Amino acid sequence: MKYGFFDNDNREYVITRPDVPAPWTNYLGTEKFCTVISHNAGGYSFYNSPEYNRVTKFRPNASFDRPGHYVYLRDDETGDYWSISWQPVAKSLDEASYEVRHGLSYSKFKCEYNGITATKTLFVPKGEDAEVWDVVIKNTSDKPRTISAFSFVEFSFSHIQSDNQNHQMSLYSAGTEYRNGVIEYDLYYNTNDFEGFYYLASTFDPDSYDGQRDSFLGLYRDEANPIAVEQGQCSNSAQTCYNHCGSLHKQFVIQPGEEVRFAYILGMGKGNGEKLRAKYQDLANLDADFAGIKAHWDERCNKFQVKSPNEGLDTMINAWTLYQAETCVVWSRFASFIEVGGRTGLGYRDTAQDAISVPHANPKMTRKRLVDLLRGQVKAGYGLHLFDPDWFDPEKADVVPSKSPTVVPTPSDEDKIHGIEDTCSDDHLWLVPTICKYVMETGEESFFDEVIPYADGGDATVYEHMKAALDFSAEYVGNTGICKGLRADWNDCLNLGGGESSMVSFLHYWALQEFIDLAKHLGKTDDIDTYSTMAEGVRQACETHLWDDEGGWYIRGLTKNGDKIGTAQQTEGKIHLESNTLAVLSGAVSQERGERAMDSVDEHLYSPYGLHLNSPSFATPNDDIGFVTRVYQGVKENGAIFSHPNPWAWVAEAKLGRGDQAMKFYDALNPYNQNDMIETRIAEPYSYVQFIMGRDHQDHGRANHPWLTGTSGWAYFAVTNFMLGVRTGFEGLTVDPCIPTAWPGFEVTRQWRGATYKITVQNPNNVSKGVQSITVNGEAIEGAIPVQAEGSINDIIVILG
Ligand code: GLC
Repeated sequence: MKYGFFDNDNREYVITRPDVPAPWTNYLGTEKFCTVISHNAGGYSFYNSPEYNRVTKFRPNASFDRPGHYVYLRDDETGDYWSISWQPVAKSLDEASYEVRHGLSYSKFKCEYNGITATKTLFVPKGEDAEVWDVVIKNTSDKPRTISAFSFVEFSFSHIQSDNQNHQMSLYSAGTEYRNGVIEYDLYYNTNDFEGFYYLASTFDPDSYDGQRDSFLGLYRDEANPIAVEQGQCSNSAQTCYNHCGSLHKQFVIQPGEEVRFAYILGMGKGNGEKLRAKYQDLANLDADFAGIKAHWDERCNKFQVKSPNEGLDTMINAWTLYQAETCVVWSRFASFIEVGGRTGLGYRDTAQDAISVPHANPKMTRKRLVDLLRGQVKAGYGLHLFDPDWFDPEKADVVPSKSPTVVPTPSDEDKIHGIEDTCSDDHLWLVPTICKYVMETGEESFFDEVIPYADGGDATVYEHMKAALDFSAEYVGNTGICKGLRADWNDCLNLGGGESSMVSFLHYWALQEFIDLAKHLGKTDDIDTYSTMAEGVRQACETHLWDDEGGWYIRGLTKNGDKIGTAQQTEGKIHLESNTLAVLSGAVSQERGERAMDSVDEHLYSPYGLHLNSPSFATPNDDIGFVTRVYQGVKENGAIFSHPNPWAWVAEAKLGRGDQAMKFYDALNPYNQNDMIETRIAEPYSYVQFIMGRDHQDHGRANHPWLTGTSGWAYFAVTNFMLGVRTGFEGLTVDPCIPTAWPGFEVTRQWRGATYKITVQNPNNVSKGVQSITVNGEAIEGAIPVQAEGSINDIIVILG
């Protein structure tokens, strides 16, 4: 069953039936002001952090997604009313038709009902801390119509806890005032005129308004039947205390075939409501700002565009996967309909991995995140698993303690810098390849020499920070020389403590290889020797202790008692995805063992919805292995199709040269391919999700937790760099694809360091991998394509065979 389609020309997903089985969400905002919005216009806005500076309220986990950012329309001759988004009024789908277009950083809602066609386009203009609603109401009937429009948002008490629990202060410390087309909402306790001040404005002169929620909704009613809309008039409420909303009402008389267009503006900062109300009186400014959002994404997407025989791959790589990856980098992992802001800050490992995917599209943000992470690394080399980058940002030093005194405690140094028992064994390692990739993209080699403080005092160059990360993992090893598991490794629920983690040793090996390449590039002879010796030690330990010959795969690790996890002898948690994919991805293992390991992955972990994380699921609690053994079977880390490591398998297969297998695994996870089976998938088909129920659960195939998952970054990185094989290096651009044998070829346009590379790959002999020849502007070259002049457009022909 499907509910919509991909409109690739506009980079939109078009929902044609609004009664989808779960809210399908989108992200508005490219800078600091963000709105997470569903196809029903449910959702919330925040500034910078979904925990602090919440502008509008949202009640998660209800069977409806409310409240939201709504426009109600009322036929003032009949009293009949509806909303431009299907919810909250929810007219019968037999009477009204709805369409939602989720685009890149905007969502457009359309409703046709009873001779009125209305659209509402929500976006956050660049350079403004506000969300604009561009509303058009057209009379498609043959008689004049009198239509009233009402906005509705419910203002938040700014901090998520105040919204959800602590009403003691918040109910009595906020108030609304109405002034000249603007409802101003003032959080009295927050003395900051920007962060303590929200507003809703309109470009029209309102006929009536409500700033008090209960006046607008009416008692014992809800967003589906507000008394104000029912009566056709707000009650002009605005005062201190209680709960607050923004409703501005205007009646329009619209002639047949004519339309009216106006804007609502939801934003922050004293005085900004009036300013933007004036700005958008001129609708040309509205058009220009919307064009700015389109241009923002054109610029990013155009850095890498592919045309291949796989339409789903093209659709996702050219827009949606990049968009999702950047959403994770910009907004971190705590703003969605699942994570609604209860935690905030940066997850070390997540951010370090996400950032590897977008250095070309958003070098500025990638750099910022790298600096954030380096500041969150301690001298010993490990990273603080979860931290707020503001803690370590010298420019924010005096800002952090001033956050709302009622709700936000300033962490003590002890809380900030936890000890080894709370450390995850993988966090810091992801940083090494990500830093290399950033410099390969930008050519900013001086970054390695930049001095950055450690979280616990002292400082070092970026290059030394990288060594500290590698050294930490060399030091914290168990008896066999395999890295210790510590609180967790990549798998949050594998809590090995003093046990050992094979995936971390393979990850260590990968990071070491990237670092050794860097040391070679920089001519650091001593480091080449030291870290090559370290890498060889890791490789030998892995090959000696981790191969399970009976199963034909790499085990997942060892408990602190020395028991192996993930062997052919076991009946639960027998084989795992992370250790086998990283074994191959890291380059640590032979082709022969690599192929066997990945064949085992195919045999034991493959499903049409992607690769399971482990199989069979754990059924017996075992605290030496960790919390994973207490998670329901087939769910999340215990035997689900955990999406994030799936792309590791695509890279592994690409490295082995098996393009058909890489594509088989890619296609299985690709949400695009599940567009016509939403009755199983449930979640939106334009977003990767954290996990899909595994075969040990009755809802096998159901996709959960869309948007904020490392899958997007990894999927993008895996496809662009390894399957399509277009990889930046310190000195040149490599094109070394691994594709299905049936592909006749593909085309990529890549912008890199100011030049454009128009790459045509031809596959006349139906191979998967192996480059026979490369020409650059007609001239044959060997190896990587040298950096071309800024502004140049270069034709690259690559023949496989
Ligand atoms: C979640 C976490 C991520 C972790 C993964 C597996 O996605 O955000 O850090 O690696 O779960 O446990």
